[in-house]
Amino acid sequence: MSEKDCWWKGAIVYQLIPRSFSDGNGDGIGDLQGLTSRLGYLRWLGVEAIWLTPIYPSPLQDGGYDITDFKNIHPELGDLAGFHRFLIAAHSHGMRVILDLVLNHTSHLHPWFQRARWAPKGSTEREVYVWSDDRSRYRDAPVLFRNFETSNWEWDDVAKQYYFHRFLRNQPDLNYENPWVQEQMLEVVDFWIQRGVDGFRLDAVPFLFEEEGTRCEGLKETHSFLKKIRKRVDESGKDILLIAEAIQPVNEASKYLVNDELHGAFNFALTAHLFAAIASGSIHLLSDAICEAQQVAPECSWALPLRNHDELWLGDGHLVSEEVVKMIRAGLHQGHGHWLNWGINRRLAPLLNGDPRANRLMHALLYSLPGMPCLYYGDELGMGDWPGLRDRDPNRTPMAWTPLRNGGFSSAPDPLLVLPPITAPGYDYRVINVEVQKELPGSLLNWHRRMLTCRRLLPALRNGDFQLLESSHPSVLAFVRSNETMTVLVAANLSAAGTSLYLDLSQWEGSRTREVIWGAEYPQANDNWFIYLPSYGFSWWLIGEVDEALVQSNSPMKDS
Ligand code: GLC
Ligand code: CA
Repeated sequence: MSEKDCWWKGAIVYQLIPRSFSDGNGDGIGDLQGLTSRLGYLRWLGVEAIWLTPIYPSPLQDGGYDITDFKNIHPELGDLAGFHRFLIAAHSHGMRVILDLVLNHTSHLHPWFQRARWAPKGSTEREVYVWSDDRSRYRDAPVLFRNFETSNWEWDDVAKQYYFHRFLRNQPDLNYENPWVQEQMLEVVDFWIQRGVDGFRLDAVPFLFEEEGTRCEGLKETHSFLKKIRKRVDESGKDILLIAEAIQPVNEASKYLVNDELHGAFNFALTAHLFAAIASGSIHLLSDAICEAQQVAPECSWALPLRNHDELWLGDGHLVSEEVVKMIRAGLHQGHGHWLNWGINRRLAPLLNGDPRANRLMHALLYSLPGMPCLYYGDELGMGDWPGLRDRDPNRTPMAWTPLRNGGFSSAPDPLLVLPPITAPGYDYRVINVEVQKELPGSLLNWHRRMLTCRRLLPALRNGDFQLLESSHPSVLAFVRSNETMTVLVAANLSAAGTSLYLDLSQWEGSRTREVIWGAEYPQANDNWFIYLPSYGFSWWLIGEVDEALVQSNSPMKDS
């Protein structure tokens, strides 16, 4: 496949939790029918791919990441026929669909685990999971959900052995040493490809294999198995995207991004650096992190989230340096009780103290840096969170559609709702919702739509090369994205203080420059080019002329 054909390069991904998005049958729980009815909104916004958190049957002890049947739909969400209708509708709106696929573990209620417990020790059925007679194995693997678990081993009274679980004790790890397990998971991939999905977010990929004396992350056997998945996907002949969820430093996460392995991987280290930069007003470490991420194979791409359905993961000094964690702790609004496991359990808007300028700046960077921008549902409105709910539920509350009852999410009586809609001061759904913001030209929602419209006209932001510019100001990040059709300059002020500065544009000496978002002409490029950026301000400029004919023929979506 040529680089041009990689639809995922720079694609705008919208992550949503189907249970919290829209309730179609009035039982208080979001479902596929409700989601299908909202596709027009996503298309209007400019979304190119929808990533659904797990939709499979599950006891929901970990938001559906605890699966009991990989080849079916959770009955509360609908059924396979409803999924088919959703998929056809999404495709007819020009949007792709990415499923979350949990390879590492199942629910303890999965029939495979129930069979394993009762099967004789050492049998193939038992060895579908990872067992041990004592808890001394794999001691160097950190406990990830440290608010909920103190060990990666749990005693099973039926099996009379301990089983290994990197996440909750209700999520036993599959044993990838067992070829039967590998084959089953490859069949799951085939199953959904045959049903027409366009990609998979592979959950918790670093943990598939274990090895004594290591953190049990990203082992070479794990990479070999991922290459088998890639081979299966390629054999389908369809352009299926594979994205790794690997909360690892860039030099380890980039190992998934090679031509015969996965196409995408989240850059969680960069996410943390973006927050550290806005928290401290300094771009110093951020620009290093951006440069560090540049070397990936041509068909591959980073996926860039700001927030997602988990806590903002900062880790134990492994993902980013202690200095970055300190910057975030010192400068971001966190409120009480928002530390969970290894991170901060808040939505974007409250983390940024409800400041829409900061929200716009963070997204503007997401929309201009190389990679697939991943927008978390509700963040386009500046939705808030509900402190006090358990685990990561504060960030998973219903989407706010209208100022009417339940924010238009569901017609069910309040006690039946999957989670309470936000009525917290400053974030009340009666004010912060799609319907109201659509009507207000200056709203955050209309700003997002405008930015995504502009971005579609600037293919260099989607697939262009990246060049960091020397900036004379410690708070201003300046870089250029260019491809064969155009050169786009981006400058962003990560500080709350407005600032002016000079950029050295001598490489483009004498070229015309135009600000794109508002359409203002600027002086010709020179070695001392003056700009002013207000508090958390940013801009996109075109340098030189644009090859319009080439832009049109490269456009992924016609402008709507
Ligand atoms: C991933 C998911 C998270 C889940 C965990 C275990 O990190 O994003 O929500 O709890 O995997 O499946
Ligand atoms: Ca429902």
